[in-house]
Amino acid sequence: MTVLSDLPKRLEDAGYVRDFLSQVGAVTAAHESVDPTALEALTRQPTPASTLGKVFFMARRVPQAELEAALTQPLCQLLLQEGLLVDAGGRQLQASYAIVPARGFWGLRDFDAWATGRPLATDHVLGAGIASALLADLTVRRKEERVLDLGTGQGFQAAMAARHAAHVVGTDINPRALRLAALAMRLNGIEHVEFRAGSMFAPVANEKFDLLVSNPPFVIAPPHDLTVMGGRWVGDSFVEQLVTRAPEFLNEGGWATVIANWHHPNAADWAARPTAWISGRGVDAWIVKWQTDDPGTYAENWLRERATTGGTYAMADARRQLPEWLEYYRSLNIGAISMGAIYLRKRTANGTAPGNWVRNDSLELQHVGGPAGAQVQRLFAGETHLRSLRSEAEILDFRLALSDTSAMEQHFRPVAGQLQMQQAHIRQTQGFGFPMALGPVPTAILTVLTPQRLARDAVRDLALEMKADPAIAYEKSWPFLAEMVRMTHVTIAGA
Ligand SMILES: C[S@@+](CC[C@H](N)C(=O)[O-])C[C@H]1O[C@@H](n2cnc3c(N)ncnc32)[C@H](O)[C@@H]1O
Repeated sequence: MTVLSDLPKRLEDAGYVRDFLSQVGAVTAAHESVDPTALEALTRQPTPASTLGKVFFMARRVPQAELEAALTQPLCQLLLQEGLLVDAGGRQLQASYAIVPARGFWGLRDFDAWATGRPLATDHVLGAGIASALLADLTVRRKEERVLDLGTGQGFQAAMAARHAAHVVGTDINPRALRLAALAMRLNGIEHVEFRAGSMFAPVANEKFDLLVSNPPFVIAPPHDLTVMGGRWVGDSFVEQLVTRAPEFLNEGGWATVIANWHHPNAADWAARPTAWISGRGVDAWIVKWQTDDPGTYAENWLRERATTGGTYAMADARRQLPEWLEYYRSLNIGAISMGAIYLRKRTANGTAPGNWVRNDSLELQHVGGPAGAQVQRLFAGETHLRSLRSEAEILDFRLALSDTSAMEQHFRPVAGQLQMQQAHIRQTQGFGFPMALGPVPTAILTVLTPQRLARDAVRDLALEMKADPAIAYEKSWPFLAEMVRMTHVTIAGA
């Protein structure tokens, strides 16, 4: 019997990914760089891959017999029944949605404006983009959780969560998005994802989750009609409401991972507003910021993005809109806009446990890559542990070790005919890199740490070997070791 989940393999076998999507750079999350001339050239090839590219990427109609040759007749019939294909008349077929895989998930999305030649509809469903892929990397993932994907859109985050979760609820205000997402789950053979329509937390009132993941409509723009970009939420009010209310929906020990843009009066005070949203809500939080733009740069970037990918505006229209965007920012007293991620972990601070904390870090996105979830859990454990000490100097009385994902490079130079270590660089190989330069003594300290003995003993032996006073070595090393724990380069045994 032919079933919907036969389609991905059929598309693969016919070379849709290898010979078409990969050739136009459309397999990974982003497809900004699709070159229309290259596409045209590909479509002239008389191959099944070209037929599939025309149908499922370019919104073209093709003769029914041609598509049946690429997909089989029963599969085409099934896709017609499921509404994935429509009869375009004249014995031609056309796809209702684009099909583009990202990270092994066969996602459905509306065709881009360049493909249809029409502006985006107000309920346009986007594919998984750069921000979607970044969030998938940043998300804290455990096993068998109950997950909420708020603003699920095409269902990409829900599908990523389905790989480790017991149950996933995807919500969205756009019912069309939910229809596409539900169809995509069937296409991918995923059964434990449920979709509910509604705004913000309304579809999950009084429920609790172990993980909340959200790539919300975060673009800060004057009111418009595109739901996927937030429509009529003022400033960053969607993100504010999401982050402020998220703790209510988390189980004890539960996590939220949200990517966000937020505004502030001056570039320097980037952390104040999100910190205020979170404080006193029973969660530990890490606000990590990778970019702050002045309003002009921010507006230009988004207008250019819309002009090139959304296709709703030509570049000239984008330029015409700039004053309106700037006036909007002035009216809201927006002096700068930051981009980053906000992590929350629900933790009841009682007894000997330290009070809830909010940590802010500014770092560069170029140093972020690959799955970060395990590292973020370590970061929270380390931060909480440090805050549970009466003095951070007590860190010496724990067994410390370099984390498994640390990598160190050492630079040597000949001095008096002998190689001498000048400087070292340490970083994390996946997730948040936290690159740091280290001098010879800190490097030596790191190399003597082992999980078998207390850091104090390792530091003492090193001091004696270097003919230094251990008491002075302790004083100098504990702030460094605490910093290394904070940066996740060093872990605390048992923490
Ligand atoms: C940037 S897209 C994210 C899609 C997908 N989760 C991803 O990561 O690619 C934002 C989504 O939020 C949805 N959305 C907009 N306003 C909403 C609201 N008030 N409540 C819930 N979802 C909303 C949009 O329809 C859209 O699907």
